[in-house]
Amino acid sequence: MTVTLEEAARAAFRSAFDGEPTILAEAPGRVELLGNHTDHNDGLVLAAAIDLSTVVVGRPRPGPVARVWSAIKGAGDSFDVGDIGRQPPKDWRNYHRGVCWALAGAAGPLVEGFDAAIVGDVPLGGGLSSSASLQGAMALFLLHAGLLSRSEETGLDDLDDRARLALARLLRRSENEFVGVQSGPLDQFTSLFGRRDHALTLDCRSFEYERLPLGDPPPAVVVCDTKDPHELADGMYNRRRAECERAVAYFRRQRGADRVSSLRDVTLDDLDAARDALDPVAFRRARHVLTENARVAAGAAALRDGDVAAFGALMSASHASSRDDFENSSPALEALIAAAGSSPGFLGGKLTGAGWAGCTVNLVAPGHADAFKASVRDRYRSATGTDPDIHVCHAAQGAHGRALR
Ligand code: GLA
Repeated sequence: MTVTLEEAARAAFRSAFDGEPTILAEAPGRVELLGNHTDHNDGLVLAAAIDLSTVVVGRPRPGPVARVWSAIKGAGDSFDVGDIGRQPPKDWRNYHRGVCWALAGAAGPLVEGFDAAIVGDVPLGGGLSSSASLQGAMALFLLHAGLLSRSEETGLDDLDDRARLALARLLRRSENEFVGVQSGPLDQFTSLFGRRDHALTLDCRSFEYERLPLGDPPPAVVVCDTKDPHELADGMYNRRRAECERAVAYFRRQRGADRVSSLRDVTLDDLDAARDALDPVAFRRARHVLTENARVAAGAAALRDGDVAAFGALMSASHASSRDDFENSSPALEALIAAAGSSPGFLGGKLTGAGWAGCTVNLVAPGHADAFKASVRDRYRSATGTDPDIHVCHAAQGAHGRALR
């Protein structure tokens, strides 16, 4: 973490509350390197945590009241920790309250309230999972502050991989059930499991995972933000889920509901054979998902072989499939991908996250990131008239916390 983010968090705490925080927790945002829209289809993903993060600093507080100040939102919240689920507020406050709700459900009620300040540098609404990084930081704050009455008993306190997997599932549950956003497990998993200079694969059906080195020296992970004012479309996300479900429903009718629970039970050969029977939209959505699963498997093999160039080519193929079959690109994303493709050090790039707006992620050969950044900025600006935000990142460590002195 940059010293600045810790200092900003301490300063935000001091000005919102009296005194000093005793605990700091930090969790990164993430990029999806391969496996676009595979996670909600029980598929395979390959992602990395990045060195943009959310930091929560705070301390326990006698009594049942929690007070939260978000320097990101420039707004505060207070609630009774014994009564979190009653009236969800349906706005940004849902995220930290939902974490308290989900962790209290699994590891006992909170023993007392707390004061906490939130700062961060993950761009909001850019598809980099600022929300999962906030959830991860809030969860680790609660655990490190010893606020959950049964966390030791449940083993969540250990923060080993087993505990992190349980935590990732709890945080996903919080987002699905408390916040009401139907996302897959990718974001919370990556924010919790990230490792410096490594990518992560996750099988969203079996929850098997592997950390894979990105190379030595590793390529830069360059995130380019279209600055497209279009919101990431929740409505489109749900529509795509329904289109994938249409393909699943067809195979269930053909083969029986007990044999097909998701697109994971369908092969590309099955899909090709069903081409004339399926509606063309469902066919293309399913083809994207199944070819993405294959690209994740091929990408993991390329990383095991140390072949980062092959990995980059798979990322570009993934983008083409998103654009043509899943249709979740946009003119701004296309302009940014074109700008990257003719810039120095480019190894491969794609849209990251839901799509329709937000960011692209690019792998850039070691030593070329600055030239790449300057070139993409110029090319995108002359194509669209907009200045992109460009973050030169590296694959980063997952969520962590510590006591402050
Ligand atoms: C969003 C969701 C993720 C995943 C991606 C698309 O980022 O939060 O769970 O579905 O879209 O791959």
